[in-house]
Amino acid sequence: MVSDYDFSDYSDKSLLRRIEKILSDYHLTFEELKIKLKTDRVFLEQVVRDITVNTTELFRDPKVWQTVKHRILKKLQEKESINIWHVGCSSGQEVYSMKVLLHEAGLADRAHQFATDVNTDMIERAKQGVYPYRFNLEYLDNYKQVVQINPLNYEEFNDIPFTNYFSVDEIRDTISVKPFLKQNIEFSKHNLVNEENIFKIKFDLILCRNVLIYFNNRLQNKLFQVFSDNLLRKGFLILGAHETILGTEAFNFIKHGHYYIKK
Ligand SMILES: C[S@@+](CC[C@H](N)C(=O)[O-])C[C@H]1O[C@@H](n2cnc3c(N)ncnc32)[C@H](O)[C@@H]1O
Repeated sequence: MVSDYDFSDYSDKSLLRRIEKILSDYHLTFEELKIKLKTDRVFLEQVVRDITVNTTELFRDPKVWQTVKHRILKKLQEKESINIWHVGCSSGQEVYSMKVLLHEAGLADRAHQFATDVNTDMIERAKQGVYPYRFNLEYLDNYKQVVQINPLNYEEFNDIPFTNYFSVDEIRDTISVKPFLKQNIEFSKHNLVNEENIFKIKFDLILCRNVLIYFNNRLQNKLFQVFSDNLLRKGFLILGAHETILGTEAFNFIKHGHYYIKK
């Protein structure tokens, strides 16, 4: 059986940790794992899902979202239409965080979000937009820091309740995004290792956060070029808090705090 998954450019350390966990969870030796991957397609897909790390949260790293709100969306106000690509969107919290800010900025009708991930389970969860509630109570604090507080003026407090955008069901222990937040979002399966831009448009903003840390330098550099090639002039790129582009010039980017601008 031939598969087009290729993990050879994932960082050795994290891949090794994931494989060790898979061997232990499925009670397999490495040789048995190799044979099963070649013969069992369903198992192969499961292992791909097990290898990817899907941790995410609403308004993860609030300071980055404050920058999106107070700087980036301000610069996009003039545009007639805004295209955003969320690369490695996991279960969708990043996509809905952006949608809340687009709504607050009055840009939701003009903005189209394209959200991709290699893990199809995550894409399905993202489409549903239903998350465990109690486990994620810190969501509420992130929301407060980004949507309600203005870091440029702490005396200002925007009394925009969380429940404008999310429904909480304490008995079922779920928090769900309200249906209107799901408009203008396209979720698709996409593998960064062997696919470039599947949407055939250029973007105003690309977010690829906490994905590149799992890749080696060669693949990271290839992807910086893909992002640069698929951003409009003066478009924005946001990476994870611990991810940076070394040699921004080579990829035609200028760094501004939490984000990069395509020259
Ligand atoms: C840690 S999550 C980051 C989620 C979100 N961007 C955030 O920062 O909260 C990393 C995501 O990258 C995805 N990923 C890993 N390898 C990928 C690949 N080759 N192509 C596309 N997505 C990939 C994983 O499935 C996972 O959902």
